[in-house]
Amino acid sequence: MKILVSDPIADDGLELLREEHEVDVKTGLSEAELVDIIPGYDALVIRSGTKVTEKIINAADRLKIVGRAGVGVDNIDVPAATKKGIVVANTPEGNTISAAEHTIAMMLALSRNIPQANSSLKANEWNRKKFTGVEVRNKVLGTVGLGRVGIEVAKRAQGMEMKVIAYDPFIPAPRAKELGIELVDLDTLLRVSDYITVHTPLTDETRGMISDSRFGMMKPGVRIINCARGGIIDEDALVRAVDGGKVAGAALDVFVNEPPTGSPLLRPENVIVTPHLGASTEEAQVAVAVDVAKQVLAALRDESVTTAINLPQVRSDAMSVVAPYIALAEVLGSIIVQLIRKFDAIEITYTGRVFDTDLRMVTLAALKGVLSQSMGPTVNYVNAPTIAKERKIKVKESKSIESDEVQSITIGLSGGGESRTVTGALTGEGVHGMRILDIDGCKVDIAPSPYLIVSRHENRPNIIGPCCMILGREGINISGMQVSEIGPDKRSIMILNVDSEVSDTILDEVRTVDGVFDAEPVRLRL
Ligand code: NAD
Ligand code: MLT
Repeated sequence: MKILVSDPIADDGLELLREEHEVDVKTGLSEAELVDIIPGYDALVIRSGTKVTEKIINAADRLKIVGRAGVGVDNIDVPAATKKGIVVANTPEGNTISAAEHTIAMMLALSRNIPQANSSLKANEWNRKKFTGVEVRNKVLGTVGLGRVGIEVAKRAQGMEMKVIAYDPFIPAPRAKELGIELVDLDTLLRVSDYITVHTPLTDETRGMISDSRFGMMKPGVRIINCARGGIIDEDALVRAVDGGKVAGAALDVFVNEPPTGSPLLRPENVIVTPHLGASTEEAQVAVAVDVAKQVLAALRDESVTTAINLPQVRSDAMSVVAPYIALAEVLGSIIVQLIRKFDAIEITYTGRVFDTDLRMVTLAALKGVLSQSMGPTVNYVNAPTIAKERKIKVKESKSIESDEVQSITIGLSGGGESRTVTGALTGEGVHGMRILDIDGCKVDIAPSPYLIVSRHENRPNIIGPCCMILGREGINISGMQVSEIGPDKRSIMILNVDSEVSDTILDEVRTVDGVFDAEPVRLRL
């Protein structure tokens, strides 16, 4: 078979591939050039340079796998690949240590003005006073995202006697405690940290999460590091915070546009930059090249691809029955995890005769919906169970196929003494046919929409009106509403379809309405 390698990868990986197949290494190709040549290949191997667009995927008529030597898959149109039946596999672990070490290097370079001092001395200046730095010892390092890289950064920072705190709404507190890291909410992290480093994937939720208002909450003189993904920190807001003097310095390895030609971030002397070098070490490049080669070879041998982020193998007859429920399960998973973020058990219950078949795909879709909220696009049907296992999340599936009731799926999450459920069904095709029928045992009947608010309140007068008044006053249009009867825990549920995102400030005001227990925003990609 033929393999195209379109970004440079280490020879160790190429050799493995060449032992079994014909390999062409052609780097720096444009989208049009890739569209032209991709029909001749069975596998494509890339790093972050190649953008695997829908056009390329659609032109690939015999491609079995796209292998990504690295973690981020934001340069691959994964839904297009999945639709076309192409496995997408990454190498999640090979460059973790390199990325963590680069983060520490950037933090120290920032603290001691090393890049600026280096340039100054090479320009024949001898200026020791100008480049006086600060120690990191006894400083607070705030880590946003405590996954593979975040943990390794935290361990190294602790070795330098920093106090490490972290914000990661998807990590249970005991896990952080084992590592000697205090889990805090984001506002606290922003207020108390001397250094803030981000280690999340780029998702709808993390894009722009470090914004003007969040810079406003930080300590004057804070230092910022981003070796994760461009865009997690709003780049314009960062420039304003640096120019305004709030931020003493920033160290960036990643940018919204790479290369960041002409970016205002390249101007301030106290913003130091590297060209996406986090994974650029000999060790990491060998590790990711070997890992990606193994995944590609497995796919071409029809063996299981352990780091595949998409594609289940379900028989076509079962698939045709369950296919309409796959999207529903994912939407329900995405709804419920936004109502209860800390959980260690997921229960998926299928009710109705239609579910007397292979439901693995639907369960995987439910898991993906739940886990994607924290992990972004790296979670997919194939790897969702492994991720759940790694995170010690128990997954239970049950069926009640004798029931004559409406065919429905219920997803429940529980943890920390709390549990919440959502039930949905299909009344027609596609997104328009989806209905939410129950939340926490309270009957409702409402269509999911991109922006929802789900609140729990006492069932008595003068609660719903004041909530809606707040939204109306803020110009938020309510296009759908359901209020349930009293549920099993003596509370009622209100679900609102709203036309736009509702800020935390507005929701906080809704939460203070007398009789409201809670109000959560739910954002869905439909
Ligand atoms: P990971 O999936 O192991 O960890 C990500 C963590 O972010 C998870 O624990 C998740 O719970 C958390 N998270 C998700 N959404 C969050 C939110 N809204 N708020 C707070 N936390 C949230 O990923 P990783 O391997 O540690 O990689 C982290 C990032 O670093 C990724 O963006 C990856 O692409 C990037 N990376 C960059 C380089 C580089 O060359 N600069 C190298 C490796 C990894
Ligand atoms: C990754 O996601 O693995 C890193 O950004 C490194 C890379 O793209 O090579």
